[in-house]
Amino acid sequence: MNKKEIKELYLNNIKLYQKYNKNYFEKSKPLVSDSEFDNLKIKIIELEKKYKYLESKHSPSKNIGFKPSKNFKKSLHRVKMLSLSNVFSRDDVANFEKKICNFLNLKHGTKIEYSVEPKIDGISASLNYKNGILISGLSRGDGTEGELITENLKTIKDIPKKINIKGFPNDIDIRGEVFITNKDFQKIKNDFANPRNAASGSLRQKNPNETKKIPLKFIAYNYGYAEGLKINKQSEFLKKLNEWGFKVSKFNKIISGIDDLLSNHADIENKRNELDYDVDGLVYKINSIDLQNRLGFLSNAPRWATAHKFSAVTSFSKILNIEIQVGRTGALTPVAKIEPINVGGVIVSNASLHNEDEIKRKDIRIGDTVKIERAGDVIPHVISVDLKRRSKNSEKYIFPKKCPCGFETIKEFNNITKKFDAVRRCPDRGFECDKMAKEKIKHFISKDALNIDGLGKKVVEKFWNLKLIRLPQDIFNLNYEKISKLDGWGKLSAANLKYAIEKSKEISLERLIFSLGIRHIGQENAKLLSYNIKSIDGLLKIDANFRFNNFLNIDGIGETQINSLKKFFSQDINLKIIREIAKYIKISKSTENKDGKFKNINFMFTGKLDGISRAEAKSMIEKNSGKIISTVTNKLNYLISGEKPTNKKIEKAKELNIKIINQKDFIKLLNKI
Ligand code: IVH
Repeated sequence: MNKKEIKELYLNNIKLYQKYNKNYFEKSKPLVSDSEFDNLKIKIIELEKKYKYLESKHSPSKNIGFKPSKNFKKSLHRVKMLSLSNVFSRDDVANFEKKICNFLNLKHGTKIEYSVEPKIDGISASLNYKNGILISGLSRGDGTEGELITENLKTIKDIPKKINIKGFPNDIDIRGEVFITNKDFQKIKNDFANPRNAASGSLRQKNPNETKKIPLKFIAYNYGYAEGLKINKQSEFLKKLNEWGFKVSKFNKIISGIDDLLSNHADIENKRNELDYDVDGLVYKINSIDLQNRLGFLSNAPRWATAHKFSAVTSFSKILNIEIQVGRTGALTPVAKIEPINVGGVIVSNASLHNEDEIKRKDIRIGDTVKIERAGDVIPHVISVDLKRRSKNSEKYIFPKKCPCGFETIKEFNNITKKFDAVRRCPDRGFECDKMAKEKIKHFISKDALNIDGLGKKVVEKFWNLKLIRLPQDIFNLNYEKISKLDGWGKLSAANLKYAIEKSKEISLERLIFSLGIRHIGQENAKLLSYNIKSIDGLLKIDANFRFNNFLNIDGIGETQINSLKKFFSQDINLKIIREIAKYIKISKSTENKDGKFKNINFMFTGKLDGISRAEAKSMIEKNSGKIISTVTNKLNYLISGEKPTNKKIEKAKELNIKIINQKDFIKLLNKI
């Protein structure tokens, strides 16, 4: 390169840097990832060092007061920030209540009291108060770890900085929603797609003075860690929040019974447009804190609460093309590429068509004008075709019988429903289908699996295209030298990636099992299996000859899961992958409480319990670090025998001298300190 060319390269980089900088700091709409941004700065500074004649007043080296583009500092939530399950219809709400009744062993139809609160569509934040002083504030992050955005949160008027009221807990995390009113959004609507993005953008400004410019509001609704909080009901807590100086929603109510829940839902939905902020549904929380504690949590959401979404927003657009996406389990999902359209504040250019049967039933064709629906955070989908606007020469869409990888697809016969699946699948031959393999790797590194910072879906795509990865274990053997030279990468980002991957090698067994991406084995089932499989050696012992039916004793694992496990472990490639992964992995203790009073104590149930469900009894044992095992062996400490126990289990337990206790004894054991 000659001097002129070098100068041109340098100035182009400076221009790019200015553009990124402006979008990052002023508009809070980063155009590139932080690592790309960092790399660009390094590149410019390196050029300046090498070619002394290069100079610009806009260079990052000259830019005094320029903020490092590092992320905010991260910090762990003392109590996880969970999400909520969703319900949409009357049946869903009834089903939610039914599940609660089952768990608590209440008669169906028992009226349960709920605290009903609007679900504001903003950004959640957790505020830590010690002795009444706001000490720190965290964003939700991934629920386990959030970003420290204390100074930004402090600029919000609704957030009390000091609470001098008797009875205010001495150490508490107050949680709530940060949002922007529609009126305020109007003033800045050119910069953001919707009010939620505006709130998020403003809150995550590097400079708190920028946050200050956009008026944010805060409504409190929940708590995380709390010391010295004495309440029996969620509604009492909401009242207290108000007394302590927090804003709470004026639409909060206490309601019992499905009918009243539904009429309130209809009522608020009608008023939705009158509200000055976006509400995308109502949150139903069991009002009694005692019952909340009994119900506890699933992996990501409480059993005691759900979000009842409002009906979706719709718009019309034209289908430009239909693309077939292949999922991790081989499911072929048709996706309509549509003319970009604003559906309730979000620009949509893809809409799901679900499956082959759905396209046939609705006779959806390329070129059709269709109604698109978007509900909350769910993927937008096509609901109907506007036949009046169909062009005369349009042709029926023929669903491909082959996967894009070339394999002939199949429709599975479901033995339970006695019907063929609506979904067409690529026959799962391990990692032969490129599309599936890529999706499996994306799952392997995803947030709930290995959770590797800086390695997202897009990077997997890129590494795949460059043939850097083909199988999950390749993640542990990346060529960082090569990566650091890739476009948009650099030494720094490659080193960061390496660090994140090293960190991910220490993982709990349940996460590892989940990360394998076995069909029908989600986080909950992976957890159940991990109790049984126990160690990486346990996992390595499973092959086609394994007695999978042993797993049938685990509450929650059924025939569907067993069939899927059998299929997975009968494929050599999967066994090979596990063996390879095992070389790099170190199994960590699960993050769950391991020091409860039932530590190292194994239980098993037989027969029906009185007044309490199996699920609840199980959760009581797990909360105290005990384990439920599925076979009577020497390892079993207590066999809890209810009504009509299985004789075989009792006999075997007697033979092995295992303590057989009844429900009363179990409760005594539970209450013993
Ligand atoms: S309670 C464990 N209450 O909804 C309980 N959440 O999908 C979890 N949200 O991340 C939260 N209004 O950002 C709760 N009244 C309300 C809420 C609310 C809005 C948001 C919150 C959370 C998300 C869950």
